[in-house]
Amino acid sequence: MSKLLSDTDAFVSWRSLQQQRVEQALSSWVSADAPADLGVVMRYAVLDGGKRLRPLLVLAACEAVQGDAAAALRAACAVELIHAYSLVHDDMPCMDNDVLRRGKPTVHVKFGEAQALLAGDALQALAFELLVPDDGSMGGALSARLCRQLALAAGATGMAGGQAVDLASVGIALDRPSLEAMHRLKTGALLQASVMMGVSTASVEPGVQARLSAYGAFLGLAFQVVDDILDVTTDSATLGKTAGKDAAADKPTFVSLMGLEAAQAYADQMLDQAHEALSATALPRTETLHALADWVGRRVS
Ligand code: IPE
Ligand code: IPE
Ligand code: MG
Ligand code: MG
Ligand code: MG
Repeated sequence: MSKLLSDTDAFVSWRSLQQQRVEQALSSWVSADAPADLGVVMRYAVLDGGKRLRPLLVLAACEAVQGDAAAALRAACAVELIHAYSLVHDDMPCMDNDVLRRGKPTVHVKFGEAQALLAGDALQALAFELLVPDDGSMGGALSARLCRQLALAAGATGMAGGQAVDLASVGIALDRPSLEAMHRLKTGALLQASVMMGVSTASVEPGVQARLSAYGAFLGLAFQVVDDILDVTTDSATLGKTAGKDAAADKPTFVSLMGLEAAQAYADQMLDQAHEALSATALPRTETLHALADWVGRRVS
């Protein structure tokens, strides 16, 4: 097999540099100074963990279209805040009832359910606050566009809607189109929005936008299929979250639908289509986005 782009020194050092930038920016924006220790809980939920895939997609998409880097950093952090909030709520006893996340006790285990609920709420609000800076650093039109993209991906038309389907599907053997639709909403929408928020920081021709959007959709679906696979194939220590939860909770997944081998082939097929859509943009700076698609397919956590 030829060397994947995600293994190149250039990508590995880009990734580590951007992860540090995002960590620093999040640390400065998520203040510990909130009533009744809420800030401490929020920082516990967001800092020092996670692959930061969504921020990396925003930043790489911005680089591909040569967009506004400062706006992209805000968008990157905003998406990660929504993601972190979704994980806090996803882990709560009323949802997946998980005790381990990013290698640490889950937020509700450490701080109680009420603080977990409120930290999630506050992280979501903070995400939108970041997209409306009061220092004049972002134009009103871009601000509004980014807010709309994030809202659509996070709410009933995206993540929250998909999570509702996920919970309503326990014990039900969904067919492939229904499972695909659920995955596109609960996980794909936010990943696709990450790409498109990065794209929004520049003025990009509609045909190119459509291809980048297709790249995000294929990558987003592949990502959740790989998540389903890792739940079965990887141990809790490596994952940083409890393995084997999907089968234990009787959740329909791509593995329960088609078995491990076919699920992996399906994820690879989705990632091939992501690469194809990206190549069809004919943009000169897409190496990093290609590498991120490879990384999604090869990740072990
Ligand atoms: C986990 O997402 C939850 C899903 C949407 C499947 P990630 O695998 O991106 O989790 P972190 O951010 O790296 O912890
Ligand atoms: C969660 O999907 C997707 C979210 C929107 C948080 P999962 O429930 O499969 O995510 P993990 O496996 O707990 O990370
Ligand atoms: Mg879940
Ligand atoms: Mg879960
Ligand atoms: Mg999972």
